[in-house]
Amino acid sequence: MTMATAQKPLLRATKLSKIYKSGRSLLPSRRQQVHAVNEVSLEVMPGETLGIVGESGCGKSSLGRCLTRLQDISSGRLEFDGRDITDLSLRQIRPLRREMQMVFQDPAASLNARRRVGDLLAEPFRIHGIGARSEIEDRVSELLRRVGLRSEHALRFPHEFSGGQKQRIGIARALALHPKLLVADEPVSALDVSIQAQIINLLAELREEFGLTYVFIAHDLAVVRQISNRVAVMYLGAIVEVGDADEVFSTPRHPYTRVLREAMPEPRLHAKRPERAQVKGDLPSPFSPPPGCPFHTRCAFAKERREVQRPALVKAADGRAVACHYPLDGPHPTGLA
Ligand SMILES: Nc1ncnc2c1ncn2[C@@H]1O[C@H](COP(=O)(O)OP(=O)(O)OP(=O)(O)O)[C@@H](O)[C@H]1O
Ligand SMILES: [Mg+2]
Repeated sequence: MTMATAQKPLLRATKLSKIYKSGRSLLPSRRQQVHAVNEVSLEVMPGETLGIVGESGCGKSSLGRCLTRLQDISSGRLEFDGRDITDLSLRQIRPLRREMQMVFQDPAASLNARRRVGDLLAEPFRIHGIGARSEIEDRVSELLRRVGLRSEHALRFPHEFSGGQKQRIGIARALALHPKLLVADEPVSALDVSIQAQIINLLAELREEFGLTYVFIAHDLAVVRQISNRVAVMYLGAIVEVGDADEVFSTPRHPYTRVLREAMPEPRLHAKRPERAQVKGDLPSPFSPPPGCPFHTRCAFAKERREVQRPALVKAADGRAVACHYPLDGPHPTGLA
């Protein structure tokens, strides 16, 4: 998909951070802080799908909840459709819920088990005072049909559906009010591989039909690539690489992106690989992230500069941005790799 350069972003985050304070100390200064999202800047153009990928605990859900203002932002700026929404109160944000919606990882947990599906889908219309009763029923039937279910499913309870069907209901609910932006937080991670493809195809169809813009979050680069125009790779709360989805996938420039790429299952044809990147050790504790480059403790290329400088996310002429002292196809300051 080509984007007109004159278009304005639908969503723009500038140095967005989310810090959680936890720990039991009575002294505020002793409480531990988690920098779950660390100065993330990104733009999402109308009609585009930005994929966000990274391993468990890197801050993807926190970022997703900040982008939809389901939680407060600690610092930075967030604009939606040209409007600064960084500091809007819960009440002020309510009308915007029609325009930005979230689909969650666990479809079972995100649907109230005691209410019939028809009720769950009618709720957004009632909350926003849209439509008379009979009209809402029609809209609910239409929504069910649109996500591949039947109108009689409205009478059933969530537990009577399979995982994939529950996720279809979650998507229908998010779409009820025709939002502009859908942030999907691991919408297929809980599903079987065969069902994953169906749900991704459904999301892609709906994107075309309703002109939706997506932020699509997953820990699996292959899943993200299937639906995204661009991909942002997250590590310990920060974006370490952003670019065209196919290009990031085929020629990763950040060593961490390459590790994610190499971790993907390959068709047999490619089983004989000349070199295999491996990530050493565990994700460092987000309570005490490493100084300098946050990836240096696991990076095969890192040398002395890691201690002093955190690499900035620098955009190259071809549009790819990488935060690395030793980008894989760029100049290597120490002659490594
Ligand atoms: N409400 C909270 N209070 C305190 N810490 C939190 C809270 N939510 C998340 N965290 C911490 O913030 C960091 C990022 O968590 P987050 O859930 O955003 O990661 P994630 O990338 O979505 O992980 P996963 O892939 O497992 O869903 C983690 O260290 C987590 O423990
Ligand atoms: Mg998550």
